[in-house]
Amino acid sequence: MNKERMRCKALEDKVMSAEEAAKLIDAGSTVGMSGFTPAGYPKVLPVALAKRQESGEDLSLTVMTGASVGPEIDEVLAGSGAVARRFPYHTNASIRKQINSGKIHYADAHLSHSSQQFKAGFYGPIHYAVVEALAITEEGNIIPTTSVGNSNVFVEVADKVIVEVNTIQPPELEGVHDIYDVPKVPHRREIPLMKTDDRIGTTYIPCDPDKIIAVVESDVPDRTRPVAAIDDISRKMAQNLIGFLEGEVEAGRLPENLLPLQSGVGSVANAVLGGLADSKFEHLTVYSEVLQDSVFDLIDAGKVDFASGTSITLGPDKAAKLAEDIPKYKDKIILRPQEISNNPGIARRLGVIAMNTAIEADIYGNVNSTHISGTKLMNGIGGSGDFARNGYISIFTTASTAKDGKISSIVPMVSHHDHTEHDVMVIVTEQGVADLRGLDPIERAEAIIENCAHPDYREALRDYLNRAKEKGGHIPHLLDEALSWHSRLAATGSMMPESTEN
Ligand code: COA
Repeated sequence: MNKERMRCKALEDKVMSAEEAAKLIDAGSTVGMSGFTPAGYPKVLPVALAKRQESGEDLSLTVMTGASVGPEIDEVLAGSGAVARRFPYHTNASIRKQINSGKIHYADAHLSHSSQQFKAGFYGPIHYAVVEALAITEEGNIIPTTSVGNSNVFVEVADKVIVEVNTIQPPELEGVHDIYDVPKVPHRREIPLMKTDDRIGTTYIPCDPDKIIAVVESDVPDRTRPVAAIDDISRKMAQNLIGFLEGEVEAGRLPENLLPLQSGVGSVANAVLGGLADSKFEHLTVYSEVLQDSVFDLIDAGKVDFASGTSITLGPDKAAKLAEDIPKYKDKIILRPQEISNNPGIARRLGVIAMNTAIEADIYGNVNSTHISGTKLMNGIGGSGDFARNGYISIFTTASTAKDGKISSIVPMVSHHDHTEHDVMVIVTEQGVADLRGLDPIERAEAIIENCAHPDYREALRDYLNRAKEKGGHIPHLLDEALSWHSRLAATGSMMPESTEN
């Protein structure tokens, strides 16, 4: 193996093939894998484990990661039947099917919580850490690649560590990471991070080389997906959101360069950030989870001075140029463990502007970000709750309708609750903005119906509100009707459109 990548002499006899390394993992064990979005996750070991399962073994693994990962884990390994339990987030259609059919056990968790809960043993012991690395240092420490996620936690907690040294990941990334360990309770102190660009840790994950049982070489790229083209609806949402932020600056509630921006994942979130490129804002900073294409576009446009996250997820075009581009971004980005990127205390301290996406919102300001029609898991709550509850301003965006207008994304009562009315200050759709701060429930309902609901659904929502008001109460509801409302409106007569039937 290349000596620039494998610098630790003491580990030379641990270099082996993925198949040999996969044999070292016991059936029934818990494996903590690197990766956050399809970035920085192990690629060859999961495929080798899938082969073991396919050859007749029953591995029944518990697989933990930082967040979603690439298809080698959530399609190939999970598809082989080797994964019994999976935490704490995913975005893959194939594993989604297995979770929704009950074949794989899954518990949705706030991503910032996952780090300390994994470390504390709330999910049982972690037997192995399998971590993708740019390189292993002379001392045996691990330099991560395009994400940090929970890798530092897995390496710290696991008894045994397997490192996948990925030679296709650009060596120029070395130095981008800032690994800081939050001690266990009750030994914690303040995390000394005061600004988005503060460096508080090491550029590597500390690792006792005696724990490393295998070093495997890989040259498989992150399987990132192209970001969806920005459509008119997303563009309109972005304009509405930026108009809201401009109003906040005018009212003196936000500084001219705003506050550190956090942005969720997905096509809408990417469009919203992208919209800032055409805004008048300058010297922006980003304190988020995932640095998507739009963050790099904003750096290129001179709009963003600094961006902190836990992973870099670029569409294939931008990803292919990463090695070439890294030198120009290196003093403008940091990748941190997710316990730091998503830390509620830091989000509160920095005054993050939290911008996340809803599947549906109700007229009182509650948000469902995870379950289609309240039952079928889409992706998971991810980091949205870490930021929504603790941000200086918490904004949710959603298109006012889904499935070609057949479903209203504004409903009387959300069919699943992720973000309560207490965590949602502003709702933005392509129709407009509902600023819910300081409004009582009925005022909130009126603002959401009139500003955010699609005109086709406004009358039905007003009718619901008026009839509910007759019944009285602080948050008036017609409970027998509220949840069936979704299906009543589906033109097909089915709540679940085919493409999201899992
Ligand atoms: N009813 C039924 N289906 C709906 C719906 C609704 N009210 N709203 C959206 N959908 C469907 C869409 O039709 C689409 O289905 P498809 O995959 O079959 O095309 C799917 O949900 C995704 O919606 P889309 O409009 O493409 O939005 P998106 O890609 O921006 O994703 C979330 C939206 C909410 C699913 C996504 O942002 C998410 O998983 N959020 C939670 C985690 C999170 O916020 N993490 C980041 C925090 S830093």
